[in-house]
Order: sequence, then C-alpha cells, then structure tokens
Amino acid sequence: MPKGLDVGTMNIVSAWEADGNTQFVKERNAFIELDYTEIADQVLSSSDLIYTRTDDKVRILGDEALNFANIFNTEVQRPMSQGVLASGATPSMPMLKTLIEHVVGDPTHPGETLYFTSPTNPIDSDIDTLYHRRAITSFLNDLGYDAQFVHEGMAAVYAALSDNEFTGLGISFGAGMTNVCLSYCAEPVVQFSIARGGDWIDTKAANATAMSKDRITAIKEDSLTLAREPEISGAEGAVAVYYDSLVEHLIEMIRTELDDEEITDTLDIPVVITGGTSSPDGIVDLFTDHLESADLGVSISDVRDVDDPLYTVAQGTLIAAHSDSHTSTVTPDSDDQQTEQATAADSAEWTFDF
Ligand SMILES: Nc1ncnc2c1ncn2[C@@H]1O[C@H](COP(=O)(O)OP(=O)(O)OP(=O)(O)O)[C@@H](O)[C@H]1O
Ligand SMILES: [Mg+2]
Repeated sequence: MPKGLDVGTMNIVSAWEADGNTQFVKERNAFIELDYTEIADQVLSSSDLIYTRTDDKVRILGDEALNFANIFNTEVQRPMSQGVLASGATPSMPMLKTLIEHVVGDPTHPGETLYFTSPTNPIDSDIDTLYHRRAITSFLNDLGYDAQFVHEGMAAVYAALSDNEFTGLGISFGAGMTNVCLSYCAEPVVQFSIARGGDWIDTKAANATAMSKDRITAIKEDSLTLAREPEISGAEGAVAVYYDSLVEHLIEMIRTELDDEEITDTLDIPVVITGGTSSPDGIVDLFTDHLESADLGVSISDVRDVDDPLYTVAQGTLIAAHSDSHTSTVTPDSDDQQTEQATAADSAEWTFDF
C-alpha cells in the first residue's frame, strides 16, 4: 500500500488508499515548549498528545500545540522554516520525526513505497534544501519505507491535471515556499522553488501595520477576498498588497526560468494553483491578471484552483507513489544535482542521529 506525505512548513499531511477512498492525516507542524513541571504526568500518559520530552522540557506537537498555546498564553513555534528544518536553539529533527511517524504510521511491509515532498534550493534565496531532504529520506527509510521525493509543484500536477495528461504548470503556494513545476505528459520539464509564501505575506503585512504576525495570519485566513487594486486600508489592505507582490514576483520567476530553459512550446497549457495560500477568493483572477501582462513564452489555456488546497499536494504524492515511476522525481538543477534522484540507495550512505 503506497503512501504519500506532504512535509510542509505549516502542515504535515499523509495520504493512502483505504476501502477505495483516499485517507488523509493532517497535523499542524508546530510545537510549544513547556517546563516539565508545568504539565502533569497524567496529562501526558492518559491523552493522545503527540510530544517529545527531555529531562526538564516537554514539547507538545501538532494541532494540540495550538490549544496548549491558548491555555498557557504563549505562541506556537515551528520545527520548520521556509520549507526546511529550522535551525533555531531547539533541535527540530526529533520533533519533525515524531510528527511524521504519527501521520504516516508504520509501513504495512518493509520497503513500502512512500513519496514525500521537498522543495529544491529556491532560486531567489541562498537557502539550501539538501540536508533537510536527506534527513527526511533517511528517517523514513529507518521507519521501514522506501522513501522517494517528489517536487511539490509536480505533486500538484499529479493531483490536479490528470484530465490533461499531467501536462501543465503546477503551483503550490505554501507557508514557507512557493513551488512550481512545468510538466509535459507527467515528465517534469522545469521545476523550481521560491522562498516566499504565506509567511512572507504575513511578515511583510505585520511590519507594515505594526500588528503581530499571528494576528495578520488570522485576519488573512478569515475570508479574505483578493483584488488587483485592493483598497489600502487596515490589515486586509496590507495582506492584499503583499499577495499582489508575491504573485507578481512568482510570475517574473516563472518567466525567467522558462526563458532560461528556452521553453517556447505552442501547446496551450493549464495552470493549477494549490496550497493554503491559494485559498482566498479572487486568487485565480489575480493570477490571471498578472499572467496577461507577462510574456511567459508558453500559451496558457486557463488558471484553476482546487477544492481542497491543504490536501491536494498530499494527494499528488500518493499518485506519485502509486505510479512509482522513478522518472517522476526531480530533474537536476544546477547546485543540487546529486540529490535529485533521491532514492533509498542515495541516502543509504548517510547516517543521521535523531
Ligand atoms: N483561508 C486561507 N486564506 C489565506 N491563507 C491561508 C488560508 N488557509 C491557510 N492559509 C495559509 O496557507 C499557508 C499554509 O499552507 P500549506 O499547508 O499549503 O503550506 P505548507 O505546505 O505547510 O508550507 P510549504 O509548502 O511552504 O512548506 C499558511 O501561510 C496559511 O496562513
Ligand atoms: Mg506545501
């Protein structure tokens, strides 16, 4: 039974087939840290909490971290930042491993195929994604899976463009990154990541309005409607301005990458946009407006969004796992070549202690 796994900066989502339906397990990729003395042993042992513990600290993970943050009047932190393991004072890997184990469970047999998402090195930042990808491959293999990775943009194509023979531009607007893949007949032709997503919008809008980032996130997620020329007032106005800026930047990056690869196909291709940041009403029109003023060198037939933007990428990883076509893994880009065919053999020589 192959599995899919979307390892996101804000959400971790697994997917597999059961009784003819796709089952998803989603947890918030977040934690709060408490002194061990602050939380009773019974709470830890008697509940379904996901947590890690050291001698003096307890870290509550997943969706429950949000509830505990309210109770203890503190803010959640994240094991990942901008698409990769965070490098803060608190070791991120044990937490990420615990969360991943929780959402994927044990393999049903040794060497079960599991496809997971990872970004590649973003083209607009010096973030390096190699260690993150190798570490996740390694601990999934340790769990007994045969772990392969698929670019998140390609996963969007698998999930949403089956009616177009997996041909088109897949875009996943996440929290930490935006991932893009141009695919022809399920072959990734161009795929890349940019280091901007929902978190970037939130940080910029918070700075502009002197509001807290958490407050901005809450306002943004609460029925925002986007327009090309938003009214510049309040938090919604600031969020809309940075949405517009993100889409403009993204389309410029797509134009540059397609230009570099000299893609000038005359085929009409659809664009599918997914990921939590694609949720607001108006995102398709905003994207279409920006596309119309850019010359991408390829002809776009239409721009579509999806019904379940937080689950589509996980669905795509499951389709990748089912097809288990090793040609669907990432094609090499300049500085990351040796990692791109992330097979079990590739990670076997690496040992990670968590
Ligand atoms: N209704 C909504 N309106 C606007 N933004 C939303 C909404 N719901 C979620 N988001 C945003 O979507 C982002 C999370 O989306 P997603 O789960 O796709 O990201 P991720 O996969 O965890 O991150 P990444 O792929 O970048 O590592 C966050 O920035 C969140 O604030
Ligand atoms: Mg994502």
